[in-house]
Amino acid sequence: MGRHINKLLRSPLVIVFLVQVCVCDRETCDRRPFDTQTAPLPPDNRFYIDIDGITERYIPGVQYTVRLLSKDGKSTFIGYTIGLREDEAYNEKNPRKPKRLKPGRLQPSPDSHEGKTRPYCNNTVIHSDITPKTSAEALWIAPEKGSHCVTVYAIVAIKPDVWYNYEGPLSKRVCEDIRNADDILPTQNDDCQVCEEARYQLTFEGLWSYNTHPKAFPQSQELARFSEVVGASHSKYFSVYKYNTEASAGIKMLAEQGNTTQLEMEIQAELGHGVRTVIKATAPAKTNLTTLTSFRANKENHLVSLVTGIMPSPDWFLGMANLELCEFKTGQWAKTVKLNLYPLDAGTDSGKDFESSNDGTSPPQPITSAAIAKGEKVKAFARVIVDLIRTYPNPNCVSDTSTFSYPEESTKDGNGGIEPPVSLEPYTTPKSEDNVTPDPGSSEECPMTAWEEWPCEGECENGTLTGMRLKYRYHIVDGIVVGKYNSASEDREVPKYCSKEETFQTELCEEDCLNIESEEEEQEDTPEPELAP
Ligand SMILES: *[C@@H]1O[C@H](CO)[C@@H](O)[C@H](O)[C@H]1NC(C)=O
Ligand SMILES: *[C@@H]1O[C@H](CO)[C@@H](O)[C@H](O)[C@H]1NC(C)=O
Ligand SMILES: *[C@@H]1O[C@H](CO)[C@@H](O)[C@H](O)[C@H]1NC(C)=O
Ligand SMILES: *[C@@H]1O[C@H](CO)[C@@H](O)[C@H](O)[C@H]1NC(C)=O
Repeated sequence: MGRHINKLLRSPLVIVFLVQVCVCDRETCDRRPFDTQTAPLPPDNRFYIDIDGITERYIPGVQYTVRLLSKDGKSTFIGYTIGLREDEAYNEKNPRKPKRLKPGRLQPSPDSHEGKTRPYCNNTVIHSDITPKTSAEALWIAPEKGSHCVTVYAIVAIKPDVWYNYEGPLSKRVCEDIRNADDILPTQNDDCQVCEEARYQLTFEGLWSYNTHPKAFPQSQELARFSEVVGASHSKYFSVYKYNTEASAGIKMLAEQGNTTQLEMEIQAELGHGVRTVIKATAPAKTNLTTLTSFRANKENHLVSLVTGIMPSPDWFLGMANLELCEFKTGQWAKTVKLNLYPLDAGTDSGKDFESSNDGTSPPQPITSAAIAKGEKVKAFARVIVDLIRTYPNPNCVSDTSTFSYPEESTKDGNGGIEPPVSLEPYTTPKSEDNVTPDPGSSEECPMTAWEEWPCEGECENGTLTGMRLKYRYHIVDGIVVGKYNSASEDREVPKYCSKEETFQTELCEEDCLNIESEEEEQEDTPEPELAP
C-alpha cells in the first residue's frame, strides 16, 4: 500500500487528478454548512436520521421518506444537508480502484415545501430557507438489485457555525433486502386512522405440487392436501399465532391433524374485541388450486392472519401473521397485497417426513420454519392475495390525520420519549405583513424581501473582526412574506420558476470588534458554542 502511495505521489499528474475527484465529488457535496470554519460538535443524540418503515433493510426500487428529526421534538436547526453514500465493491479489472455501487436517488420531498437539491451535487438535498425547524425530509428511491448497502446521512447546522457532522445517529446504513418482494410483510401501522370500513377478497392460491416441489412432496402423492383455511381480520392486540412462540392447542390440531375446529373456537371467542371477521374458506380442491373468501376490516381491526394445515405432515402448516392492510405510508386501505407462504413447524411433533408416524415433542418447541427439503431453498407452497373490494363510509368516525406520525409510539407518556413538534405558530401574527415592499433589486415576477443580515461572526484580532456573515431574504407571494413566521396565514406556494432565487447567502465580513475582552473571555471559557436548551 505504502509503495503505491509513494509511486502516486511522484507523479504530479496523478495528484492533480486525485484532488479534482475529491473536490468535485465528496468535499463540495459533503461540505460544512454555510462554509463555516468551526469544528463540528461532538456527536450526541439531539438529531437523528430515520427512514420511514425500515430499520435495516430496503427493498430495491422502493421509495422511502427519509426524515431528519430532533429527538426531543423541540430542538431546532436552521440548515442541513441530507445525502447518500454508496458502497464500494471489489473491481476485478482494477483492484486498486474499487467499483462504486449505486445509492439510488435522493430528491426533495414532494410533500414538503422545504428542501431543494444542491447544484452539482448528485443525491443531495439541502434546506431551502434558514427558518428554525425541528424536522426535514427527503424522498429516497432505493437503488436497483445488487447495490448492497447505502448510507443515508445528514449534516445539521443549528447556527451558522454550530453544526453536527454525519456521525452517530446522523448516519444510517441500510442494506438490500434480497428476499422476493412478495415474501415481505408490509410495515405494520400502529396508528391507523382510516375512517371507512373496508371489505376485502382473500384468494388463497395453492402452489404446491409434485411437479413444482419434487423434493418437498409426500411419497403418496394422492394424500397431499391443505386443510380448510382459517383466520381473522383483527387488531394488534390479537394474534392467530406468533413466530417463535409456542403454538396454541388450535394450531397444534390444525398442523398435526388438519382439524380446524379448536382454532375456530379460539378465534370466535375474541369476536367483537380484537377480531372483526372470522375467516374460513374451504380447502382448495387440489394443492395447486385456489380458494376464495372475503372479510371486513376497520380502523381498529386492520390486520389479517390465516393458517392452513399441510397434510400429511408431522406438524407443518402454512401461515400468514399480521398482514397490514392500513398502509403505513399513505394511511389508506391497501388496494392489493400479496404474500408468499412457506411451511412452518408448529413445534409439537418431532417427525421429519411428511408421512412420519406420530412423535409428540415434549416440551413443545416454538413455531419456526419447517425444515422440509434440507439444504435446499424451498419454493413457496402458496400465495395469498388480498384485494380491496369496496369501502363503507363511517360518518361517526373522527380521523386525526393532522398528527405527524412518529416512528416510535411515545407521544402518550409525554416524558422521555419523542414529543410532537412544538408549533412554530407565533404568539401574535405580525402585522408588518400587510404592506411589505419588495426589494427593488428583485424582479417583478419573483419579488423578494430585502436581505436581512446576521451579525458578522468570526475571530477578533487587533480590533478587527474577520469572519462570515449570513444573509437571508424571503419570497413574497400575493403580497405575503412566505416562510418567515411559519404561520398558516403565510401558506403560499412559491412558483417553481422563482425557486432559483437564492434565499440565503454567506459572505466574508470585516468590522470593528465590540467588547473585545468579554468576547475573548467567553471563547476561552466555553470552547464549545452554547446550545439552545
Ligand atoms: C452525477 O450523476 C451523473 C448522472 O447520473 C453522473 O454522470 C455523474 O458522474 C455524477 N456525479 C458524481 C459526482 O457522482
Ligand atoms: C396441478 O398439479 C397436477 C399434478 O401435480 C398437474 O397435473 C396439474 O397440471 C397442476 N395444475 C395446475 C393448474 O398447475
Ligand atoms: C375435529 O376435532 C373435534 C374435537 O375438537 C371433533 O369433534 C371433530 O369431529 C373433529 N373433526 C374432524 C373432521 O375430524
Ligand atoms: C496584530 O498586531 C500585531 C502587533 O501590532 C501584529 O504583529 C500582527 O501581525 C497583527 N495581526 C493581524 C492579523 O493583523
